[in-house]
Amino acid sequence: MEDLAERRVLVTGASSGIGAATARACAARGARVAVLARRAQALETLAAEIGGAAFAADVTDEQATRAAVDAAADALGGIDALVNNAGVMRPSLVAEGKVEDWRAMFDVNVLGLLLATHAALPHLRASDRADIVNVSSLSGRRVPNAPAGVYAATKHAVHALSEGLRQELGGDGVRVTVIAPGLVDTDLLDGDEHAAAARIRERAAQLGLTAADVGSAVADALAQPPHVLIRELVLSPTAQTS
Ligand SMILES: NC(=O)c1ccc[n+]([C@@H]2O[C@H](COP(=O)([O-])OP(=O)(O)OC[C@H]3O[C@@H](n4cnc5c(N)ncnc54)[C@H](OP(=O)(O)O)[C@@H]3O)[C@@H](O)[C@H]2O)c1
Repeated sequence: MEDLAERRVLVTGASSGIGAATARACAARGARVAVLARRAQALETLAAEIGGAAFAADVTDEQATRAAVDAAADALGGIDALVNNAGVMRPSLVAEGKVEDWRAMFDVNVLGLLLATHAALPHLRASDRADIVNVSSLSGRRVPNAPAGVYAATKHAVHALSEGLRQELGGDGVRVTVIAPGLVDTDLLDGDEHAAAARIRERAAQLGLTAADVGSAVADALAQPPHVLIRELVLSPTAQTS
């Protein structure tokens, strides 16, 4: 299936998990793909595997993000699709006062998405078939439990920003899609010793989607005919009932 042939796709947070799977899915369907995250070695390995280009940057760093996005556009000859997938989750109760974790989640999940989007906009506007895909979560519409409250707040923000961007850019032909996965078995909470993180990890390992399931859904959204916009795509494991 080559239904993304000629499309030039930049994926953030592509050094592992859903981002890496999205890069693979898009490349397998014919897209030229650039990958961005902080771990340069993992990106280089992936880029070599899929014939793509790797750009190491921290999405919370405005200048580094702009430079990486521009370099990706140079390497691909433009950008038709930006997949804003970089994200972090650090569950805890507000009473625990983990201020650095709150900051990290808002910085990466919300401001990082805005910085990458702003940097990519000139390139997307220059494309005759442009997409922004924002990876949110089921937690962008509901709060699953108290320790996930701050993370859910960042993902509610992703939904709101996506709707604002859709209204801002739709008239210029830029599609904006939110992907809202439920539990996915990835490294998102690796190394997090909080009891809430352990519970989520365990559930995701038991019943979670694979990263490839989500990557394939992102590619499906990009492959829609230009006049069709999937505004929001919610996917969860069938067995995830809450
Ligand atoms: N796993 C789930 O159950 C689930 C469910 C719904 C939504 N999501 C969302 O899916 C997205 C991907 O998560 P994942 O589950 O695939 O976990 P993951 O494997 O940990 O992937 C997170 C990605 O974000 C990148 N990243 C983190 N901070 C960054 C920064 N400051 N600058 C650039 N890149 C950064 C990481 O790369 P580096 O460390 O190399 O920078 C990594 O590539 C996230 O937005 C997450 O909120 C996950």
